[in-house]
Amino acid sequence: MELSELSSIKPRQIKLLQENGITDIKSLSMSVPRDLEDIEGISGKASTKLIWDARDVMGMSSFKQVSEIEENYDFLKTGSERFDDILNGGVSTGRLTEVFGSFKSGKTNLAHTLAITCQMPIDEGGLDGAVLYIDTENTFSKSKIERIARRFGMEPKKALANIYHARIYSTDHQFQMIRAADQAVIEKNARLIVVDSLMALMRSEYVGIGMLASRQQVLNKMLHELSRIAETHNVAVLLTNQVATFMKGSYSANDAIGGNIVAHGCHFRIQFKTKGFSANTSLERTAIIVDAPDLAPEVASFFITEAGISDTEKVEYLLDEEEEKVPVKKITKKKKSSKKKAVATKSAELSDPLESL
Ligand SMILES: Nc1ncnc2c1ncn2[C@@H]1O[C@H](COP(=O)(O)OP(=O)(O)O)[C@@H](O)[C@H]1O
Ligand SMILES: [Mg+2]
Repeated sequence: MELSELSSIKPRQIKLLQENGITDIKSLSMSVPRDLEDIEGISGKASTKLIWDARDVMGMSSFKQVSEIEENYDFLKTGSERFDDILNGGVSTGRLTEVFGSFKSGKTNLAHTLAITCQMPIDEGGLDGAVLYIDTENTFSKSKIERIARRFGMEPKKALANIYHARIYSTDHQFQMIRAADQAVIEKNARLIVVDSLMALMRSEYVGIGMLASRQQVLNKMLHELSRIAETHNVAVLLTNQVATFMKGSYSANDAIGGNIVAHGCHFRIQFKTKGFSANTSLERTAIIVDAPDLAPEVASFFITEAGISDTEKVEYLLDEEEEKVPVKKITKKKKSSKKKAVATKSAELSDPLESL
């Protein structure tokens, strides 16, 4: 429903709301007055009135009989059937899914695989839509996307044209693009938003206890906005997150960073783990449902392959004529360098006890 259908709204307010990513009555109804407070030209009083009026129009200001509630979630397949099974069909639309895990645990590989499966028809486990990819770590790879597209029988060029990518340089930029996603979802017919990764920039920009409150405030705003977009447009949202190592009594444990805000802000929380010691060379990974409203805390194993995540160690796909098959030697070399890096991150992670907050 168009904002102009709201009887109390002024044309100037419509313009201001649209400029700030609130494009229709539904998204206004899911906002909170605080969201609009930052908009110059809309007073605190006016924002509450606008939002409450929008909720009236949407039928949100009265209690509903539960039998009338519609649940129309779709599920996006991950590339691994075992992983889909524990997710009850795949990554859900309408809600936020957080995947956390240590360096090289497979988060970015999952994001790439979903960017392809999302484009497949619904009856083949896809969402029949485009993808918005918010990349804060510069780890997006076109060639990986092309291989995954071939694996799923898709024309690589077409698949690439359906992924809209934003390379992000600061937390503020990240928030700007999350806001912009509301409109972009409609324009591009997107059904998946990836944020890879959620906390990487915040972790470096907001350092120390003095900055904790403002970091959590920004984080809260981002999650709230993403949640609203997910629900309004019934899109899937994948957030990846890093872990930090904490001392818990006499032993150490890995936990996602971002603390309670992330933990409570995401509907599905999944942990990815490397098997055995993190420095081993196996590409087998485990996915654990850590928290979900209606899923058992189950575990599934999958593999990272050169063409996305899968149930098997190798996947078959057609090669482009000019493209050479990646020699095994090259992969081994890669693993060695990531080993060193993994050790380096671990000690860095250990040094900041604030990360858990
Ligand atoms: N082409 C490939 N073939 C096989 N394994 C790969 C390939 N590319 C990356 N990997 C493996 O994937 C892992 C990195 O996964 P990634 O999804 O980037 O992790 P994260 O985002 O959790 O840090 C590394 O162990 C790397 O060896
Ligand atoms: Mg990554």
